[in-house]
Amino acid sequence: MMISKGDYMAESSGFGKVILFNEHFVVYNIPAIASAIGMKTVTSIEPADKLTLIDNRKETPGYKKEKMGQQKNSLKRIIHAAGIDNPNIKIIIEGDLIASSGIGASAASCVAIASALSDYFNLGFSDKKINEIAYEGEKGYHGTPSGIDNTAATYGGLVWFKKGKPNVIERLNIQSPVEIVIANTGIVADTSKVVAGVRERKEKNPGKYNKIFNDAEKLVYDARKALEVFDLKRVRALMNENHSLLQEIGVSCKELDFLVKLAKDNGAYGAKLTGGGAGGNMVALTPTKHLQEKVASAIEKEGFEVLRTTIG
Ligand code: MEV
Repeated sequence: MMISKGDYMAESSGFGKVILFNEHFVVYNIPAIASAIGMKTVTSIEPADKLTLIDNRKETPGYKKEKMGQQKNSLKRIIHAAGIDNPNIKIIIEGDLIASSGIGASAASCVAIASALSDYFNLGFSDKKINEIAYEGEKGYHGTPSGIDNTAATYGGLVWFKKGKPNVIERLNIQSPVEIVIANTGIVADTSKVVAGVRERKEKNPGKYNKIFNDAEKLVYDARKALEVFDLKRVRALMNENHSLLQEIGVSCKELDFLVKLAKDNGAYGAKLTGGGAGGNMVALTPTKHLQEKVASAIEKEGFEVLRTTIG
């Protein structure tokens, strides 16, 4: 997504995201629903003596250090996928999306970098191409990504995503944007490890896991319908159920469960972990500014960072 263009500078952005339904299940070709959020990563590129990456994003403490190796690997993959040889450029990453687990920080940066490269080198990449390059970059962070994060980061809006050949990507339209609260456990999580853990447990216990996966598949079709007819009470029940399924496959943690309960106790319309889990972030549906503020301030009072934004 291009923001502006100068003779010697290119600046582009990628959206952060929340997954509203079916993270993890989406890795196994079960549909999922994600939404871009109002916060973005912005990348600019300038000429330099050699390839340099400057990361000025605000972070959950420890995030950048933990991800440094993955970020380098990701950048190499992006440059290769863009078909560029040894570029002498300085890439600066910033924007109001916090570098934190669960809100698509890695995908947003991959999209922003791919888009800025297209601009700087006049490559004229389409959004589809930027999404494909960002997907290659995402592999540097978590091995076998489903592609949902880079898709939401590229296109924005509310997205129905099913991994496959090709992926199914559909824009969902809802009556009006809905307020949400995102709350950060402060724990930096490694998505590739959490995804690998699910795979291991699934292989050890296929009976139990197949049943949960079938439930997740049924649930997401109901969720799509509920969003499209704007039945937020139904969305509430399904989000809560989705969190239970994620607990059952072992990707929640006590901090996420605490935040989910706190949001619900304060009237949230459904709350669940979002993204890889095992730390990272929780999302709560809080239609109306008043409810959003009530839930957000209750969580802040407990010492957690929150984002107030909308979906749809
Ligand atoms: C991470 O944001 C979402 C996961 O489903 C992994 C993926 O889809 O690649 C956990």
